[in-house]
Amino acid sequence: MQDIKIKAKNVQVHYGETHAIKDVNVEIADKTVTAFIGPSGCGKSTFLRCLNRMNDTIDICRVQGDIQIDGEDIYDPKVDPVQLRAKVGMVFQKPNPFPKSIYDNVAYGPKIHGLARNKAELDEIVEKSLRKAALWTEAKDRLDAPGTGLSGGQQQRLCIARAIATAPQVLLMDEPCSALDPIATAQVEELIDELRQSFSVVIVTHSMQQAARVSQRTAFFHLGNLVEYDETDKIFTNPEDERTESYISGRIG
Ligand SMILES: Nc1ncnc2c1ncn2[C@@H]1O[C@H](COP(=O)(O)OP(=O)(O)OP(=O)(O)O)[C@@H](O)[C@H]1O
Ligand SMILES: [Mg+2]
Repeated sequence: MQDIKIKAKNVQVHYGETHAIKDVNVEIADKTVTAFIGPSGCGKSTFLRCLNRMNDTIDICRVQGDIQIDGEDIYDPKVDPVQLRAKVGMVFQKPNPFPKSIYDNVAYGPKIHGLARNKAELDEIVEKSLRKAALWTEAKDRLDAPGTGLSGGQQQRLCIARAIATAPQVLLMDEPCSALDPIATAQVEELIDELRQSFSVVIVTHSMQQAARVSQRTAFFHLGNLVEYDETDKIFTNPEDERTESYISGRIG
């Protein structure tokens, strides 16, 4: 097994009275794709958002427990959530390019985080990120065109390019393929497999086939509990818990 990148201990999340995450303990490996699966409302997105403090932006949301990345407590008051989110990038279900050019969508993060000393360096980051996101060939002759003018699948790859442009160490993806057709889905899945060489990738998915195809480890959530977490093969062929068994065989969820 790879080194541990993220350690979460006794994590509880409440939205007002709703207890959305119940004492979750999990260790997420570096250079590995980890899938979060489970029925709608079980807390997958909530837990994912704990990992880059996106829940901070939701007023009624209260996160308790301990989450460390590389041994550093990400909820320490010293930690700047904006810096943290550059290190722990996120891709959402619905592609959400900024109303800016393709180039500026990707250059935005590196610019605000001062990752390029000059235009040439910035150009290089933009090209590298678009190449990694498998969008360069389609985008290179229209870098000044608006990102919102791309197809849905291209927009999602643009959002991936934007997320990786800040050289993150962890990439969180919340149902990144749910708005995509099978061809774009296959491209994004291929990309996820490549990204694993450089990052720890955590993907939420409703597709069991996708979890089985792209991930090495799978966590099954149910009613706010992390029920089972193991090698993906084990979860899908021989799960320990009855609830996991029921979910993967389509009896619950
Ligand atoms: N912003 C919010 N305000 C209040 N309650 C919320 C909020 N976001 C989520 N919840 C509640 O927290 C619980 C977990 O929701 P969450 O979105 O994490 O589930 P999920 O597993 O991602 O579901 P889905 O598969 O439908 O995306 C649910 O009961 C949900 O209603
Ligand atoms: Mg969700």
